[in-house]
Amino acid sequence: MRADQPQHWHIGIIGGSGLAGGIALDEAQEIAVSSPFGSPSGPIITGRVGGVRFTFLARHGAGHAISPSHVNYRANIDVLKRCGVTDVLALSAVGSLREGLAPGEFVAVDQFIDRTSGRVGSFFGQGLVAHVSLADPVCSRLSQLAAKAAVEAGARVHESGCYVAIEGPQFSTRAESRLYRTWDCDVIGMTGMPEARLAREAELPYAMLAMVTDYDCWREGEQGVEADHVLEVMHANVGLARDAVQRLAAMLPATREASPIDCALDGAIITAPSARD
Ligand code: ADE
Repeated sequence: MRADQPQHWHIGIIGGSGLAGGIALDEAQEIAVSSPFGSPSGPIITGRVGGVRFTFLARHGAGHAISPSHVNYRANIDVLKRCGVTDVLALSAVGSLREGLAPGEFVAVDQFIDRTSGRVGSFFGQGLVAHVSLADPVCSRLSQLAAKAAVEAGARVHESGCYVAIEGPQFSTRAESRLYRTWDCDVIGMTGMPEARLAREAELPYAMLAMVTDYDCWREGEQGVEADHVLEVMHANVGLARDAVQRLAAMLPATREASPIDCALDGAIITAPSARD
């Protein structure tokens, strides 16, 4: 998105565990978008919330059949870009690494630590080399609006938090969980990376509204994380997330001012034009 002029918002929603059913969209229709990076996780549903276009993609596919390690993150981001999405909001379930972040509460994530391994984490590679800045991996404008929308929806929201992305699909050991606490991580999940880094390479401002489902396993004397419990808490709170999306649409400014992230690749590609594939 290179335009300097204000433009229309088009919000891409990536729905995580518990959100495979999508969000309420007017004039919803499924659209076919193909990507050179392969198949996205599932159907791409576009529609409107109020006057704003939203496009939804379930990260784990319809029926939650794709594990965090097997999500085609590149295809997911690429198809949203090809749809004309201007900004991406991820709605994700996370574990808490802090006493003060309780199950049922929301966190507007603003930093990531990537402990995943073996995932394809870039659109660039041999033939075209780019080093994009990821110091601030989240778009503060979208993140703040999403947090405000979640508060309006009735959620308890923490306006910042560091997310550690683990490979999974197993939950962490207690030693790992305690280690991430010493790293000042606040929440833990399996999908925020490489999603956030790919969004940046695609010049898409990205934010994540994380829904806390459990305390991971760092608390003394507590049981480990159970997937069915995570889903139970997620399902109990998914209405808040859906309501937050409706409220976000209502609070977006009428026109979208350009973001510096729209031009994130400016100056990032270092391969000489003569050497590009
Ligand atoms: N998603 C939800 N809870 C989680 C946890 N404790 N660890 C990793 N991913 C999660």
